[in-house]
Amino acid sequence: MFTVYVASEEGLRTQIVEHVKNIPGAVLTGSSTELRQALEECAAENPGVLLVDDTLLTQNVGLYEQITRVPYPVVVMASPADAEAARRALTIRAKDFISLDTWTHDLPAILSRTATPLEGEVHRDGRVFVVFSSKGGVGKTTLSVNLGIALAKASRQPVAILDLDIQFGDVAPMVGDAPLVTLYDLVKGTRHVDQDMVKRTLKRVANNVYILAAPNNPEEADDIRADHIVQILQLLRETHSYVIVDTAPGYTDMNVAAFDFADTILTVCTPDVVTLRTVGQALQVFYEGFHYSRDKVRIVLNRSGSKTGVETIDIAQVLQSPVSYQLPSDGSYPVRAANEGAPLIVQFPDSLLSRAVQHMAAQLVQETEGRQRSTPKKLSKLPFLARLRRKPQ
Ligand SMILES: Nc1ncnc2c1ncn2[C@@H]1O[C@H](COP(=O)(O)OP(=O)(O)O)[C@@H](O)[C@H]1O
Ligand SMILES: [Mg+2]
Repeated sequence: MFTVYVASEEGLRTQIVEHVKNIPGAVLTGSSTELRQALEECAAENPGVLLVDDTLLTQNVGLYEQITRVPYPVVVMASPADAEAARRALTIRAKDFISLDTWTHDLPAILSRTATPLEGEVHRDGRVFVVFSSKGGVGKTTLSVNLGIALAKASRQPVAILDLDIQFGDVAPMVGDAPLVTLYDLVKGTRHVDQDMVKRTLKRVANNVYILAAPNNPEEADDIRADHIVQILQLLRETHSYVIVDTAPGYTDMNVAAFDFADTILTVCTPDVVTLRTVGQALQVFYEGFHYSRDKVRIVLNRSGSKTGVETIDIAQVLQSPVSYQLPSDGSYPVRAANEGAPLIVQFPDSLLSRAVQHMAAQLVQETEGRQRSTPKKLSKLPFLARLRRKPQ
């Protein structure tokens, strides 16, 4: 397995991207028609190989020096008849040269032999967050997506977002993506999921941010089982520093598997009495049924400051737990961003909610980097009801 970044003029870029997607073992990590942007994105992602169309080199002489210093291999694609092109490739210390006459044939072999394989990557042992609520429409997906992007930015580390709202998941549309491959494609017909399969299903949606989308059709959810989710989470945390799991309400086997696996459960509530009542019940299950620690289950108050007559202080009293994070109401910005098919934090980075999520991400990164990771996880094999009756150990 290796990752490829493509920098090329528009017409050729689309063709190359299509070819790269069909090369076994190659994962497209990004593409751009601007060399400067390509270098910026590659600085964050460190691809296995950067493929550059010579036309972009002719337009960006000022960037040659920077290219000679990049830590990943660079391959240039140019016309074999152009002697100047060969010289440019030498100047930027390209590892290889692909001829425009035969590129469709040569691309797989040249990329495979030049790219740095993924096998050498670090074992990350990432922190797993599950974003949960007993209610729909409280902002779980909004938080999952925007926190994911903010964590990647604050930590400069890879982040995966798994959409476990398996029937009506909307992580992909919220980032403006229509996924071709989903969780369903990853698990159908198999009991064992491996790292290569997961990597092929992940879709890059921003710098260092990858999503594993929910199935396209609700009926496909039937094929997904709790033990698939445990395997997938284990594989994701080996390759990503942060893993965020968006969920649908309910104590399904799959959600319970994710709760057990999580380092931190972010329980989202809003300042209204009906939501608070069910969130209170959910917290009781976490603390008294599952015996999770007060640190593992944290409360996120979304739409805080809304004039609902319920104050933050009342909320902490009703839930008998402190509110760990407060996210303000942000008017129509979240809906506008979703309608424009872009995450809020990308579209309106200075909006109230974007800033609050960035602050939350900065806190979480500081906390994560500062603390020693816990010992390997013990996963409960007991079904949900049996676990509710279990005595604390
Ligand atoms: N803090 C907020 N301010 C304004 N609108 C919000 C806020 N949080 C969420 N929303 C909006 O509320 C709706 C439900 O949010 P969503 O994240 O889909 O909830 P859930 O995933 O819990 O069902 C969306 O239209 C979203 O844009
Ligand atoms: Mg949702």
